Amino acid sequence: MASRPSDHARRIEAVTSKLAALLPIASVAAAALVFAACGEERAPDKPMSEGQVLMRNSGCSACHGPNGEGGMAPSWRGIYMSEVMLADDTRVLVDDEYLIRSIKDPLAQQVKGFTQMPPNTLTDAQVLLIVDYIKSLK
Ligand code: HEC
Repeated sequence: MASRPSDHARRIEAVTSKLAALLPIASVAAAALVFAACGEERAPDKPMSEGQVLMRNSGCSACHGPNGEGGMAPSWRGIYMSEVMLADDTRVLVDDEYLIRSIKDPLAQQVKGFTQMPPNTLTDAQVLLIVDYIKSLK
């Protein structure tokens, strides 16, 4: 019984020193986040295509990534003319028609393993510009 207060104190000391050890890690992580955020805004080597500007301004990048690298939605890199597995376990060729339909009617064909994509109000011309951008991603 008599040893309890000192046990308690030792435990607090142990926890405090663990927290102190974590602090530098937390600040490095925060710095990395700030750096990543800046990196995203940095101008790319070549100017962005109309399609890329459009997809960023239309909110597509929130799910598909600012450079089409994917995230909570499939990556667009190298998907053109590849085969994608749909939720109903059929395979489909990612051609122009498929890409256009995926954007204009997001619920028509669901990529397996992903949630649903929300609808958008892009015009046909805008859809084609984004499709061109997707096709340019290797
Ligand atoms: C809220 C997240 C979200 C947003 C915003 C979003 N998408 Fe998607 N998108 C998805 C998900 C999830 C899928 C996969 C499921 C499906 O096929 O619907 C998908 C699938 C696609 C596909 C088919 C990709 C493949 O691998 O077959 C294309 C093309 C596409 N989106 C284009 C767009 C465009 C263009 C926009 C902007 C107008 C957009 N998306 C906005 C979530 C999103």
